[in-house]
Formats: sequence, structure tokens, C-alpha cells
Amino acid sequence: MAAPFLLCGSAHPDLGASLAAELGVSLRASRTDSFPDGELHVRLEDEPRGEHAFVLQPTFAPVERNLIELLLLVDACRRSGATGVTAVVPYLGYARQDRRTAGGQAVGLRVMADLMAAAGVHRVVSVDVHSPSAEAASSTRFDDLSALPSLVAALGDLPRERCVVVAPDLGAVPRARRVARMLDAPTAFVHKTRLSGEEVSASGLAGEVRGRIPLVVDDMISTGGTLEAAVRLLVSHGCETPVHVAATHGLFVGSAWERLARLPIGRLCVTDTVPAPARAPVPVERVPVAPALAAALGR
Ligand code: R5P
Repeated sequence: MAAPFLLCGSAHPDLGASLAAELGVSLRASRTDSFPDGELHVRLEDEPRGEHAFVLQPTFAPVERNLIELLLLVDACRRSGATGVTAVVPYLGYARQDRRTAGGQAVGLRVMADLMAAAGVHRVVSVDVHSPSAEAASSTRFDDLSALPSLVAALGDLPRERCVVVAPDLGAVPRARRVARMLDAPTAFVHKTRLSGEEVSASGLAGEVRGRIPLVVDDMISTGGTLEAAVRLLVSHGCETPVHVAATHGLFVGSAWERLARLPIGRLCVTDTVPAPARAPVPVERVPVAPALAAALGR
């Protein structure tokens, strides 16, 4: 394959540098400025005439800014003669809004997919997207890579014969089952109800955790509410502590650090789909996703 034309928005320059190094290319130059009224303005300094452009931009907070910058970069590539554009969005914001749970709501995931397609995206590459509906919601090719094998490899020295892999809610069950197969370990599932953006309640546990070392597997840690509820329930059911955690996206917003600091957590492993937290009062191991992204772009 010819050297890919790789651009990186301003959301996550470290990941851009890692991906460029993994692909053995230089990042192409672009600039993003803000006008005084808050509008973004992008300018490609290298233009992808006759080439396929890859635009890297995870859409974590500030979600709208990062998303608009991505859309502007895609449009600029298309207008500069790119033969096609792949949006590399390792963390896809709004993916949790994959269905309406009550009247009057929007389906945010579908809106994101439509915006990217309208801007000129031909293919989206993401990592452990929250919802399996993402592919169906997207009118373009959608590749959802999994970081679970890398996370499991990073946690390789856990005593597998004593582990139980825990899904902290029903949506996490397929991921937990996959990890359990990798570790040849049993599974347990938490029955979670979301009360608000920050608060959840964990009302039941299916599976045996007594005397076992839990490995909680999820797609993301946002406010840490899901993890806190799961860990407290596991402890109340007699699991061994500390509890270990593997989650693809470490957003750590709101009260996440305060919550994590008071939990009996041993190893906490996330990937680098979002930048490293500036202050992490608990140790966080970060697994690189650039190798998996580079392999997918090469395909
Ligand atoms: C929910 O369905 C997701 O898989 C995560 O469990 C959840 O979004 C994590 O959010 P928080 O850390 O705020 O509970």
C-alpha cells in the first residue's frame, strides 16, 4: 500500500504521533483556529489530491468541538481532491445514545453517523464502540476494532484459575463473555439500572464470585458510577479484593477519581483512545491502540 495520507485533528495529537509512527509516515499538516465568535476554521497545509485521506479524531469532551473539527477536516479533504476519506474515531461520542428509551428523545448515534456521511466520510474506523447498532446506524462502511485482546494481554499475569470476569451491566455481557473465553474463566453479570448521568444502582448479581478475583470488563469508564456500583456489589457477595478492571475508554469525568480512589481496585487498565488524564490519583495502565488502528488502515 502507498504511504497513507494521514491527518490528525487537535483532539489527541499524541495518538496521531503514535499512529503515524506505527504506519511509518509523517502526519500531514493542517491548522485549526477558533474565530472570536467560537466558530472553528480548518486549513489543510498538505492537500490529498488523488489520495485517500485518513483523518484521526476521537470525539471525547469537548465532544461538539472535536466532532465539528472532524467534519470540517473531512470536508476540506474532499474539496481538496481526496479520492475518499476514512474517519478514524477511536472513541465515538454519542454512541451510548443508540436508541430511544422514552418518547421525545433523539438517537444521537444515528445523528453522528449521518453527519459524518454528509461531510464526505466513506468509512469509519473505531474501537469498541458502545453499541453494536453503530454499524447499522451508519450508511458507510463501519469497522469496530476490539481492544479486548490487548487489554487481556496487558493483564496477562492475573491468576486465571481464580478469576471471574464480570460484566457491570447487561450491555457489557458480550464483551465479558469474550474475555472469559480468552482467560478460560467463569462470568458474572450485574443487573444495573441507570438513575441519572452520574448515578446507577446495581440490584442483582448473576454468577458466583465468592472467593474469586473479579476482572470487571466494560467499554468505558465515564463518571465511574457503573464501576463503583459493580465493585460494591461484588464485595458484598464475598469476592476477593482487590478487583481488577479492563475498560477500553478511560474518560474519567465528573466524580470518577473520587469514586475510584475509595474502591478496592488493584489493576486498572484502559487504552489510549483518549489522552492520559492530567491527574490520576489511582494508578492507570494504558494500552496503545495505534498498532490495531494501523493494521486496520492497512487493510
Ligand atoms: C454503559 O452502558 C456503558 O457501557 C458504561 O458502563 C457506562 O457508560 C459507564 O459510565 P459511568 O462510568 O458514568 O457509569
